Amino acid sequence: MSNLYAVLYLEHDASLSVWDSDTNTFRIYEAERIANIKHFMPRRHTKLIDDVLYKILNMIQKDFGVKRFQEFIIKGNFADVTSDFLENHCSKSYDYIKEHSDLVLFPDISEAHHHSGHAWAGYIQSPYTNAFVITYDVKGDDSSITCRSIQDDVESTIKKYNQSIGLIYNIVGRMCYTLRHTNNILDIAGKLMGLAGYGQPTQRTHLLTETFRDAEQQHISDDTMGWFTEILMAMETIHGAHPEGFLDTGPSWDEVKSDNKLKIHNLRKVRGHAYNEFDSDTRYNRFFLKDQEETEWAYAAQLYIEQRLLDLVKDNLSDIRAADNNLILSGGCALNVLANERVKKEYPEISVYVPPNPHDGGISLGLLAERLVKQNLLKSQSVSGLQYAGADMLDNFYRVFTDYSETTPGEVAEQLRAGKIIGVIQGRSEVGPRALGNRSILCNAELANMKDILNSKVKHREWYRPFAPVCRRPDADQWFSSSSLNGYETMSFVADVIRDDIPAVTHVDGTARLQTVTEESHKVLWDILTEFGGVLLNTSFNDNGKPILNDFATAKRILDNTELDAVLWIDSDGVYRITV
Ligand SMILES: [Fe+2]
Repeated sequence: MSNLYAVLYLEHDASLSVWDSDTNTFRIYEAERIANIKHFMPRRHTKLIDDVLYKILNMIQKDFGVKRFQEFIIKGNFADVTSDFLENHCSKSYDYIKEHSDLVLFPDISEAHHHSGHAWAGYIQSPYTNAFVITYDVKGDDSSITCRSIQDDVESTIKKYNQSIGLIYNIVGRMCYTLRHTNNILDIAGKLMGLAGYGQPTQRTHLLTETFRDAEQQHISDDTMGWFTEILMAMETIHGAHPEGFLDTGPSWDEVKSDNKLKIHNLRKVRGHAYNEFDSDTRYNRFFLKDQEETEWAYAAQLYIEQRLLDLVKDNLSDIRAADNNLILSGGCALNVLANERVKKEYPEISVYVPPNPHDGGISLGLLAERLVKQNLLKSQSVSGLQYAGADMLDNFYRVFTDYSETTPGEVAEQLRAGKIIGVIQGRSEVGPRALGNRSILCNAELANMKDILNSKVKHREWYRPFAPVCRRPDADQWFSSSSLNGYETMSFVADVIRDDIPAVTHVDGTARLQTVTEESHKVLWDILTEFGGVLLNTSFNDNGKPILNDFATAKRILDNTELDAVLWIDSDGVYRITV
């Protein structure tokens, strides 16, 4: 009998990844989809975690049959998240795991790091055997930026930078008035990227990126609040806001302002340590950026993350060359598709790969892959097709939808052309934050007001956030220009829109977050697009602000409570069923 190997990651964006040694099959169960709570964090939802985990364990049993866990590893970032956590908060699941394991339940993997998880999640899903991996996020276990080479499954030259590019991006997002209602801080970066498109390069954006750089260089990774304060101070200086009421020692206000390259240490001299004595929330609320300043700051933060990523590439160019010019970007910042695109543009000889789940939802997969590879149980080259290795639907279409009819790709395309908004569900879920056709809402990208209609009828998203297009790969260059169109990427990249007939998916800065499909990569989208003959808008199928849905009951609720026009379900035999 074959065995299962599992890693459960228990921080925000918790997930459980499992591998079946017999069939070499991976499954990635993202807890947020099962819990219907975005960025699900077990330590915040201790009452729910047992039910969520137990549902996942049942899905594993459904997916693999009754098998035993050879290993079941729990990983958190903090000492209090250990097997004790499971024992105390997850008695039902804990008993199940014990019953289905022979060995030591929870081997110590204290050597496993957050960034190793990100890096190996990228490597195992990439087409490369030899690659250089840049991992960057707001804050990992012990560093915010790490770089490593992995060749034939052997890891070397791990380099750490004691700085955080992600933090600056995050902090600027927190300052933006337009983003003030963002419930979860983890959503702020994605929103800021949308807002940045409304900015323009100015003298101040240049000055700001210089200031961010100074602040980052002085940042000590454990002192997040201190750094936050530094940025607030920089902002105040450039902004010219509220100069009164603070310690006024050192150079004068005018002296600092006339310094064309603002230095944080100058700012500190002016401001003393006054900021440290203030409650950060109060300070922060007084300093919301608005209107043009806001978009300038957003633009500068975007420019900064792009420049810093380019710095990292430049700094490691000889190692990237040694890795056959293969570069993997991972960690939450790798969701910044604009920065990724900059690397491809500046270094056309480098082949860039970004996994669909560079965020923390991919950590369990990466840690599992790393462990299996290092124990010689698995060769990374034997792994493919993890893009749709997520959870199956939790419930049954027929039980939820009793009233439906069979349809065809041609009829669906006709409906889309007529402006209908259709939710599509098929097969297992895509992994990562972007819907890639298995849990998607589709509509016509050519209609001028489609974005507004979609927002007012179904999605209720913020006005500044773009919607993404999907098209057939061979057709892409009719509408888009991007260096990624020649590479491995099928999503997670940005293209310039070269025509004006797809307004619903063209961001204000003329870019689009394109997904391309082939007949092999996504037969359903391919068939619908072939009949449709153009570009579709593709957004995640979810309740407003919720994770991508994972049950038909949620699909029905959205159909009943919004102006979504239909739910389309394609079963494993390829039969199209639609309910309106
Ligand atoms: Fe991370």
